[in-house]
Amino acid sequence: MQKLEGAPWEIDPYLKTGGYEAWRKCLKELTPNDIVGEIKKAGLRGRGGAGFPTGTKWDKVLNHRVQERYFVCNAGEHEPGTFKDRHLLKHIPHQLIEGCLIASRTVNAKASYIYVNHEYAEEEANLRKAITQARERGLLGKNILGTGVDLDLEVYSGHGSYVAGEETAMLESMQGRPAMPRQKPPFYPTDFGLYGKPTLVNNVETLCNIPQILKNGAAWFTQVGTEKCPGTMLFSLSGSVNRPGVYEMPMGVTIRDLIETCGGGVPNGRKIKAVFPGGPAFSMVTADQLDLPMDFDSLKKAGTGLGSAGTIVIDDATCMVAATLKYSNFFKGESCGQCPPCRMGTINLATLMDKIERGEGSRKDLDSLLQLCGFVKGTGYCTLITGAAVLVQSSLRLFQHEFEEHIRLQRCPFQPARTGAGA
Ligand code: NAI
Repeated sequence: MQKLEGAPWEIDPYLKTGGYEAWRKCLKELTPNDIVGEIKKAGLRGRGGAGFPTGTKWDKVLNHRVQERYFVCNAGEHEPGTFKDRHLLKHIPHQLIEGCLIASRTVNAKASYIYVNHEYAEEEANLRKAITQARERGLLGKNILGTGVDLDLEVYSGHGSYVAGEETAMLESMQGRPAMPRQKPPFYPTDFGLYGKPTLVNNVETLCNIPQILKNGAAWFTQVGTEKCPGTMLFSLSGSVNRPGVYEMPMGVTIRDLIETCGGGVPNGRKIKAVFPGGPAFSMVTADQLDLPMDFDSLKKAGTGLGSAGTIVIDDATCMVAATLKYSNFFKGESCGQCPPCRMGTINLATLMDKIERGEGSRKDLDSLLQLCGFVKGTGYCTLITGAAVLVQSSLRLFQHEFEEHIRLQRCPFQPARTGAGA
């Protein structure tokens, strides 16, 4: 991703670096099939969390028998520890706009939207100003660059909830209904999206890659990354690191490299205890696994996942029960309540975790936690309950001794012991 001079919404700095060249090419030279072909050749995979092949998704909508189609950019980012789409919206909105225009035109969308997490107020404002500038230059709106093509982008201020960022819940909420996920399969947005019509939904970072691929070619894109996960990824690095932030690194960078080279290591001479490579909905890894490459396939093979690359580092001064409880509470608060196993499961997981952290747990509670995780995994319309269960399972598997210490001492070993009445 390129760094630009001036205010992020100003179009001239972006134009100077070849911005909107790919869009011009799409309007004047390339057919939709050429575009999809190049994206397939580049092997681009969705950066929202699942790594689904972008070209396949575009192909499905482009070749759908139903002609009324829609396009939605999903900027409903809400994964704990993930803030890379926020960075892109704030700093290079024109690259996103260009990606959206290309996507929308390729599938011949009837209307096109950018759904923005409502907490991202400054980012949304930058995006709106950038759209206005692009419209003033004739790059979107009516009769774009004199080609006779009409295409506009509408910014939709979304919900602040986690589940509303799940694509089917997002589409529901855009139609005025509660932000609750639909069952998929079979109802993938490519077939059954906005107003029940084929809809192309892509993540912000995925779309920001599109102009670069079309401008520089698929071969350029595949120069970095791994064979099956080409390109770079924006890692949101947070937790116990000296330099938290958003870092663009090739797919397949090791966890160690990301933490040490980009993040400047762990502060105050502390040691790494655990890392969530892809956010708290995927298993943690421990300090002996730092040489694992970070890409969709390698992390999956290692029993965890890349997700949207929200990498959270936990140091050895942290209580793992307390750290896990924090995210269990997050999942409890964000469950939309539609699927009973998720509604009840997230509450029960958080309640048991809280009991253990307060020193009131028993061995039976550990068994109940594991049993509950086994029951609820994979039972929701979206991945929320599975993530909540995987979090607890991974914490118990890797740090069982800490859970047992809480039970033995009847308090959190990381908190000072109470010394007397009223203490
Ligand atoms: P998914 O695997 O169901 O789908 C991924 C994408 O591919 C979707 O757009 C889906 O519509 C499409 N797709 C999959 N199979 C398809 C098929 N046969 N035909 C057409 N389209 C198909 O994953 P989902 O539920 O969309 O995302 C889950 C991931 O999202 C999790 O791994 C998590 O990491 C991530 N996530 C990211 C958040 C963020 O803020 N970036 C927030 C919450 C979760």
